[in-house]
Formats: sequence, C-alpha cells, structure tokens
Amino acid sequence: MSNQPIGVFDSGVGGTSIWKEIQKLLPNENTIYLADSKNAPYGEKSKEEILQLSIKNTDLLLEKGCKIIVVACNTATTNAISYLRANYNLPFIGIEPAIKPAALQSESKTIGVLATKGTLSSSLFHSTSENHAHGIKVIEQEGTGLVPLIENGKVDAEETRLLLNTYVEPMLDQGMDCLVLGCTHYPYLIPVLKRMLPVHVKIIDSGEAVARQVKAILEKNDILNTSEKLVKHQFYTNVNPDVLKNFVEGVAANISVNQLDF
Ligand code: DGL
Repeated sequence: MSNQPIGVFDSGVGGTSIWKEIQKLLPNENTIYLADSKNAPYGEKSKEEILQLSIKNTDLLLEKGCKIIVVACNTATTNAISYLRANYNLPFIGIEPAIKPAALQSESKTIGVLATKGTLSSSLFHSTSENHAHGIKVIEQEGTGLVPLIENGKVDAEETRLLLNTYVEPMLDQGMDCLVLGCTHYPYLIPVLKRMLPVHVKIIDSGEAVARQVKAILEKNDILNTSEKLVKHQFYTNVNPDVLKNFVEGVAANISVNQLDF
C-alpha cells in the first residue's frame, strides 16, 4: 500500500503549486496528478457541477490505485470535500484559504482574500471566516478571469498584471496588510504581486501547510513510502499538454505528462 501513489487533482495547472510542495517534502512518494483543464474554471460553476467533477476526478484516481487524494483546489475543497470524505473509504486532504494565519499576523486587522466565486460563496469558507477572523475585517475579492489567463500560460502578461491590479488596489485602499491567496493557481502570480504590493503586505498561501498535512496523514495511516526506489510522477491533462509541461518539467526526475480524455 505504501508504494501506491498519492493522487492530486485540480481544475487545471494550479494544483501543481501544491504538488511541488508535496514532492519537496515527500520525495519518496509516487504521485498521479489530474489537471481537469477542459472544465476550468471550476470557480464559475455551481456547487452541484463542482461536486460532479470532483467525483469524476476521484473515481479516476481510485482506478489508478491512489492511497490518498489531495484536493489541490480551494473551489473543489470548499464545495465537495465533505461529500467525498463521507462517501469514499480513503483519506482526503483539502486546501482552504489561510484566513487563520493571516488574521493572526495582520497588524492593521484588515486582510484580503483573493479567491474564486465558488470558494467565496461556499458555506465552508463562511464558517472558517467567522470562526477565525474575530475582530478582523476580511475583504473578499473574486479573482474572475485570472485562472483562464494562467491556464493559457499568461502568468506575467500585461493583461494579467492589469487585471490583478484592479483586484489588489481596492484592498490596499482599505488598509489590507495580508493578502491570502485562496486559489491554487495564484501562487504562480507571486512574482507579479511582489512587484505590485508595498513591502509591508504579506502574501499568504497554504501550499506548505497542505504538504505537512499530507505527511501527517500518511504517517498516521502507516502508509508513508520509505522505499528508496526511483519514484514516478504521472501527470494527466484533458487538453493540449504543452502548458502543463511548462509548469512541471524539470522539477523532479521521472515526470511524464500525458493527454487523457477524462
Ligand atoms: N485552482 C482552483 C482553486 O484553488 C480552481 C480555480 C478554478 O478552476 O476556478 O480554487
């Protein structure tokens, strides 16, 4: 069982930001990554559609023998993880906007959350926000349009910078000193954001914390891969694989990126 891969899925290339943290922390683990780019952006879909897509991705990862599944997508986590946990017999690890660490670090008591409409409208996001942001002003900003640009490889294009700026500026005007990246595509915008934001504004994302949680769950279930054998990282996308290749090739040994209809 411990040799079985860790399954990871996202609506596209964004979850590779989480996969990279997992691979760094757990280099002995085999992985399978599904980029459902054909159906991106999830953030504009209904809760029911996001649920059905999450079930489809889970079934495929199970078919491929995964031992645990990482839902490397805030939108799918906040809309579907409770269903997945209740209906499948393996551990799921999800990702949610890091409101708690931001609330603890904010001196201006004003934090910004940049996330998809699907995440910001979910009840899980609202309950996390209510539980962890007492006395903190939480500015919610939908990042509409950013995911398609990143899916097209336009991470540092002028249109991406301009759009991002329209989202960030109003939050700065309201005194934000912590910006929570509530979508796994957005860590790829960090270099652009660093040029855009005053130095005192902290950028907070949950990638490393998710990787630590994956390790803890593998240990708890006694399925950590301790074998020193060369591991395999299989990536599957349901669109042209060129963009996904740019995000992952060269990051680790033995990576294959394939197109698959799913
Ligand atoms: N990467 C995703 C997230 O973390 C999904 C974005 C989307 O497809 O809208 O929310």
